[in-house]
Amino acid sequence: MKYNFDKKVDRIKNNSAKWNEMGKNFGHNDLLPMWIADMDFETAPEILEEMKNKLDQKIFGYVSRPDSYYQSAIEWSKKRYNYDIDFSSIIHSPGVIPTISIVLKNFVKDTDKIMIQTPVYPPFAGTVKNSDKILVENELVQDSDGNWKIDFEDFEAKAKDDNLNWFILCNPHNPVGRVWKREELQKMADICLKYNIRVISDEIWRDLVYKGHEFTAFASLSKEVEDITITCFSATKTFNLAGLQASFAVFPRKEELELFDAKLGALDIKRNNPFSLVAMEAAFSKGEEWLNELLEYLEGNVDFVIDYVQKNIPKVKIIKPEGTYLVWFDFSELNLSNKDISKALIEEGKVALNDGTSFGNTSSGFFRMNIACPRYMVQDAITRVEKVVKSL
Ligand SMILES: Cc1ncc(COP(=O)(O)O)c(C=O)c1O
Repeated sequence: MKYNFDKKVDRIKNNSAKWNEMGKNFGHNDLLPMWIADMDFETAPEILEEMKNKLDQKIFGYVSRPDSYYQSAIEWSKKRYNYDIDFSSIIHSPGVIPTISIVLKNFVKDTDKIMIQTPVYPPFAGTVKNSDKILVENELVQDSDGNWKIDFEDFEAKAKDDNLNWFILCNPHNPVGRVWKREELQKMADICLKYNIRVISDEIWRDLVYKGHEFTAFASLSKEVEDITITCFSATKTFNLAGLQASFAVFPRKEELELFDAKLGALDIKRNNPFSLVAMEAAFSKGEEWLNELLEYLEGNVDFVIDYVQKNIPKVKIIKPEGTYLVWFDFSELNLSNKDISKALIEEGKVALNDGTSFGNTSSGFFRMNIACPRYMVQDAITRVEKVVKSL
């Protein structure tokens, strides 16, 4: 490999949320952090080089965005996903969640209901509640082999409600790791078209997809699907740049793009910062080789965890994620509350995993492990989990 993902990185000095906020979130600082979704890998050297060039300019005033900035994101989307984005429909946003928040606050009627598919990234429910809108959950279900599926009957039953006018899609899905197949997306799209439902498609994980699976952009299904969709993506998750706070939103309806732009303007958050400006473009124009190696390394981590759990902790069930670097652990065979499992993981195992119950009511028994770190950390984490499970 050209890039070294085994390299140990000291993130305490990095003032990272992942390493420095465990006391606040878990009551202890001395845990192995396998929670919040960023990676313990240095970003690609090709990105660092552009950031160093920016630093060398020694001036960090307001920046102006060159066309090449959006062009790099458009070309990446076309090349990797055959997703055509019109230059006039793409806009910067400080983050995917800020985009969703702004849309919900300004585009959605107070009486509108908004559907999400739980378990899902907690800020989805959070932004709906914070914008005083009504939340509707289409719960994902597991088949007899444990694979995560969409309950289409329930999806359509909920879609029929005249007040259900918005759906927030997570593709690839955090936390269950599904990369929704074209047919599944088309089935959701058909229902949304039939009942006049608008879609916010959060595709922030789209680059992190494992061999044998293919990401399809929701808006790329057809022109009519594109018209009902607002797409969100970024290079931040892919290249470990989340602290730079930048993302893209695609609004095919001109009046909505203009309204969104005006709302960003009112908050004075229209511009990139000098580092996100160069980092995002470098990621999309020079980061592909790094990403391909990263994916190989991450899949090695996933396979390691699955193999270890199957051989040594059979009470714990895991379905291999198709994408993301998140592994969704099912501890329900232990017949214990999440509170008790959490206490044991923290106090005995000294390992920080996300408690599944924060992703939705149905996730009792589940915990999420972030495996985007050097393999020695993953090995350490899984043996800590093993010790805890065997002691319970
Ligand atoms: C599905 C999903 N959307 C959005 C985000 C965060 O995006 P941003 O930092 O751009 O708001 C995350 C972070 O983990 C995520 O998992």
